[in-house]
Amino acid sequence: MHTALFIITGAVMRKLLLGMAALIALVRPAVSADMRAPSYKASRPLLAIWGWSGCYLGGHLVFTKGVMVSRVAWAAGPRRWTRALQEADLPDDSPTAVEAEGRQVMLYRHRGSLYAIDNICSHAGGLLSRGIVADLTVTCPLHGSRFALTDGCVSRGPASQPQPVLPTRIRNGWIEVRGSRPAPRRPVNGRTQP
Ligand code: FES
Repeated sequence: MHTALFIITGAVMRKLLLGMAALIALVRPAVSADMRAPSYKASRPLLAIWGWSGCYLGGHLVFTKGVMVSRVAWAAGPRRWTRALQEADLPDDSPTAVEAEGRQVMLYRHRGSLYAIDNICSHAGGLLSRGIVADLTVTCPLHGSRFALTDGCVSRGPASQPQPVLPTRIRNGWIEVRGSRPAPRRPVNGRTQP
């Protein structure tokens, strides 16, 4: 019940925001045309700032946050094997959120096999650990995208980008994860090897 309400509220909010953005985009040219009148000369710089701030905000959201592109497009760490959770603390068949060097990860164990997938949904940032897992596929609680735990592939949208999966291992009773980008090799003669 709560999950359904959350999904509906999220979808309505998104539509409202998109509607407001479209309305502003429609109104701005009209305001701009009006401002060309000589009596509004002093207001023209303000209009220019308005326009450029919109460009900045859009660029920031897309290129820094990955909004509507992939919220995990730049997720890479941890650079080395990092302890995420004690093995004994992970229940079977229960999505569990952990953090490893600042990266949010969802752990899942099924019949002795361990899976780790980025916990931030690539679509709009929903927490996958709050979703339902069935047949090794997790359903995002926000808009219902489905991702395979084995390789992160999208089996149902609206997400269009796969979800990064992380390698796992167990060492000394700890579940360790590592990002897909390995750490550089140790420096040799003062230089870092790629
Ligand atoms: S946030 Fe939209 S499907 Fe996950």
